[in-house]
Parts: sequence; C-alpha cells; structure tokens
Amino acid sequence: MNAGLLGVGKYVPSHILTNQDLENRMDTSDEWIRTMTGIEERRIADEETDTSHMAHDAAVEAIKDAGIKPEEIGLIIVATVTPDRPFPSVSSMLQYQLGAVNAAAMDVSAACAGFMYGIVTAKQFVESGTYDYVLVVGVEKLSKITDWEDRNTAVLFGDGAGATVVGKVSEGRGILSFELGADGSGGKHLYQDDKLKMNGREVFKFAVRQMGQTALNVIEKAGLAKEDVDYLIPHQANIRIMEASRERLGLPVEKMSKTIHKYGNTSSASIPISLVDDLADGKIKDDDIVVFVGFGGGLVWGGLCMRWGK
Ligand code: UT7
Repeated sequence: MNAGLLGVGKYVPSHILTNQDLENRMDTSDEWIRTMTGIEERRIADEETDTSHMAHDAAVEAIKDAGIKPEEIGLIIVATVTPDRPFPSVSSMLQYQLGAVNAAAMDVSAACAGFMYGIVTAKQFVESGTYDYVLVVGVEKLSKITDWEDRNTAVLFGDGAGATVVGKVSEGRGILSFELGADGSGGKHLYQDDKLKMNGREVFKFAVRQMGQTALNVIEKAGLAKEDVDYLIPHQANIRIMEASRERLGLPVEKMSKTIHKYGNTSSASIPISLVDDLADGKIKDDDIVVFVGFGGGLVWGGLCMRWGK
C-alpha cells in the first residue's frame, strides 16, 4: 500500500504585480524579466494577509476536496520559510483555526524544496499506519523578506499557498519513489539575513544540475524509464531551469507544468499551486506517471515519482 494525494487546494492573493509595475519602481524591464525568468506577473499579499491566512484557505479547499473532516487529520505539516513569527508554528495556528483537534503540528524549513520534504514525511506516517490523513501545506509570504531595492531578486518572487491531504490510495497508485538531499556547503548562495540574499548564477548552475538528476533518480527508483513519464511538475523558479529538466527527461513542452508566468517563484507553494491548476486544466489523469522535483536554499532538493489517482 502506498500513500498518495487525496485532495488539493490553493490560495493566491488577488493583487497582481506585473512586470510593468516593476519597471515603474526599479531599473528593470518586462523584456529582461520575461526572457531571463519566464515571469510575467506575480501575486502579492496585503498587510493583513499573513502566511497562516493563506495556508488556512488552501487547507480548507484541500480538506473539502479529499472529502474528510478536520478532526480526522493526524498530523499537519507546513513547509514555509516565511512563518507569521518564529513561533508558534504556522501548523499549530492552522490546527486551531481548522478545528483539527486530533492533529499534531510541525513546520518544516526546506525553502523551495519544503513541499517535497513535507510530502515525503507525510508518506512515512501514512505507510507506517500511524496516521490515516496528513495535511501538507506549502506556503510563503516572500514579499515580506524581499529586498525591493535589489532588482536581482525583487522581480522573482510571489506569495501564495498550496495544500494537499496525504492518505492511503488503491494498490499500484500513489508515491512510488522519492529522493531528498542536502548540500549545506552551498548555503551561502541563498539565505535570509533580514532580507533575502541570493547569488543567482550559483543557484542557477546547481538547480540545472540537481533538478534533472533527481528527476532521473526517482524514475529509476520507481523501476520506470523516462519514456514512462506522463507529466513533470518542477519547482517554478526560472523557465530556463525548468526547460533544462524537461529536456533531460526528453519530454515535450505540453508535458511540463508551467505556472511561473502567472505567479513567479512562490518557493514551497509553487509545486502544489501548479498541481491545483494542472488538475483543473485536465492535464493530469488517473494512472498517469507524474514526477515532482524541487530545489532551494540550504541548498536542498527533493523529488518523487507517483502514479496519480486515489
Ligand atoms: O527557488 C530558488 C531561488 N532562486 C532561483 O531559482 C534563481 C536561480 N537563478 C536565476 O534564475 C538567474 O540567475 C537570474 C534570473 C536571477 C539571473 O540570471 P543570470 O543569467 O544569472 O544573470 P546575471 O545575474 O548574471 O545578470 C545578467 C545581467 C547583469 O547585468 P550586466 O552585469 O551583464 O550588465 C545584471 O545586472 O542582468 C542584469 N540584471 C537585470 N537587468 C534587468 C539582473 N537583474 C536584472 C533585472 N532587470 N531585474
């Protein structure tokens, strides 16, 4: 028996910040941002909307989609590097707000790979029989740690949340394999020191190398070949990094998720937000082989291969 995804949900703020808006605020251009990153616009949360609010709205949708009650959840995992405050954890706030009275709660800090770390952790608890349902949320309010004076990073990020309920699925479906990894020697290339700081070039090189390799590793661990893959959902950090992973798997353009143009890089929320949009657009069908892969500050990475469906 494998663990799989029983329901999904997302929340993105209504306020849209376009590349043109950024042109008016700093020395950049729509042309540069589109060509170098693939981003056209991103969502920015207002003052009153903090990380826990976005997490809550995405979670409510995922719980409804899974057809379960909050009191059936055994564990809540929130992947975020932008919690409302260092503690209490966003997951504890969520536990109370949702009325998930039987749930334990913990936050996971693995930057843009946080959702992958969360799902793989949830899988262990479900497959060991410890919990029937684990709620996993990837959520970021990156706008509050963005240095709006630094054009190298300010144009890249957006706010949002994506959630899923992990539970048992039918034989043959669910998470077939995974890989998590870390290389702390690269921590200096992407970190928060009051505001977010990044050596874009170094992160880019690491991401191109690691994303493709992790995708290939999880396919092999699942006993499958590249040709078996129906759909790839890469972390939405930069269209050029995503394209490199797609090409390494030999997949056509339509078999890779692309939401970066609408939301920018939402870190741990990017994979679940993309999943919600792709399901709504009918891009993933039951029994499709889907590969997820993410990387981020740490440096860390994570991927998994699953056969879609309950
Ligand atoms: O989720 C993980 C988080 N991070 C990432 O995934 C980021 C990975 N890195 C990247 O996506 C890319 O490194 C960037 C898109 C951030 C930058 O692309 P690059 O090919 O590494 O460019 P660069 O930083 O070497 O900059 C090239 C030029 C520079 O000008 P000069 O020195 O050649 O005259 C920059 O000053 O582009 C300039 N530049 C900009 N120009 C207009 C940098 N940012 C901007 C900007 N608008 N916003």
